[in-house]
Amino acid sequence: MEIMDRQEYSRRMAEQVAEVEGMVRGFLPHVCAGEAGMPGRGDSFQKTIFEAMEYSLMAGGKRLRPIFIREAYRLFGGDEESVVEAFMAAMEMIHTYSLVHDDLPAMDDDDFRRGKLTTHKAFGEDMGILAGDALLNFAYETALKGVGQARNKENALHALQILSEKAGVLGMVGGQVVDVEMTGKPLTEAQIDFIYRLKTGALLEASLMAGAVLAGATEEQVARMEKIGACIGMAFQIQDDILDVTSTTEELGKPVGSDEKNEKMTYVTIHGMERAKEMVEEYSGQALELLEQLPGENPFLNTLILELIHRKK
Ligand code: FPP
Ligand code: MG
Repeated sequence: MEIMDRQEYSRRMAEQVAEVEGMVRGFLPHVCAGEAGMPGRGDSFQKTIFEAMEYSLMAGGKRLRPIFIREAYRLFGGDEESVVEAFMAAMEMIHTYSLVHDDLPAMDDDDFRRGKLTTHKAFGEDMGILAGDALLNFAYETALKGVGQARNKENALHALQILSEKAGVLGMVGGQVVDVEMTGKPLTEAQIDFIYRLKTGALLEASLMAGAVLAGATEEQVARMEKIGACIGMAFQIQDDILDVTSTTEELGKPVGSDEKNEKMTYVTIHGMERAKEMVEEYSGQALELLEQLPGENPFLNTLILELIHRKK
């Protein structure tokens, strides 16, 4: 398995993050001044929602999910940049909406995210709710642009189906429901695995699967990408639990000790810190093994999965 040199990887990652940010910004709703007699975005009546969408979407973040889509797309030889980009932007909008709503007073009630005030703190709770709604809706408008441009519409619609299912009640929303309902209560291992698999894993699975499907991967290959995503999701969420205990607010950009404050059981409280760290390595190792069995080689993707084990934010 080919692994990239650390420096080269960091350079490539920084480049990718910058590229994704520019690209996602370009998809944001814009109505040009004078266009078809419409007011410009800056002076339209609903301009607050445009600002809140941009604020949350452009607040930083690792941009992992769109990067996973693109790397999976590359692994299977995809070559329609504008199509994959629409799906990447849509995914980041869905991810961002979930964070905006997760931070609301009715859920985790957090004031900081990515080192900035959370959207409801900056724009008020009403606009926080609406910004999440707007991003979720706009995500589908954006992905549909990709479907419209795709040579292979069937594959693009399949990718959209995966995206919507994994974001919904059978995926992220379902996981969040159980997470919210069980907060402050003891969890069985099956319940905690269910929550992690869905609330965190589902979008990572969807990213790898959608990239593969868009590039024309076979059903078997897509199923393997789903498994890889599930392993990455578990490793990612357990590392999140670890960082909530070991990191600092400055490094993380959001309050540490949030799980304790919200009386959430985590892998660290159930298994202890040492075992939790081992589990991150085990899940990441499994993801890499599964990836190795696929045809094609993507050293950047291999290195990204490996680097997530040691992520500090
Ligand atoms: C941080 O991602 C996010 C997670 C670890 C997932 C947590 C799941 C939720 C908050 C689900 C919420 C769902 C609903 C429906 C409200 P990240 O570290 O990649 O964040 P970044 O983009 O800031 O880097
Ligand atoms: Mg939270």
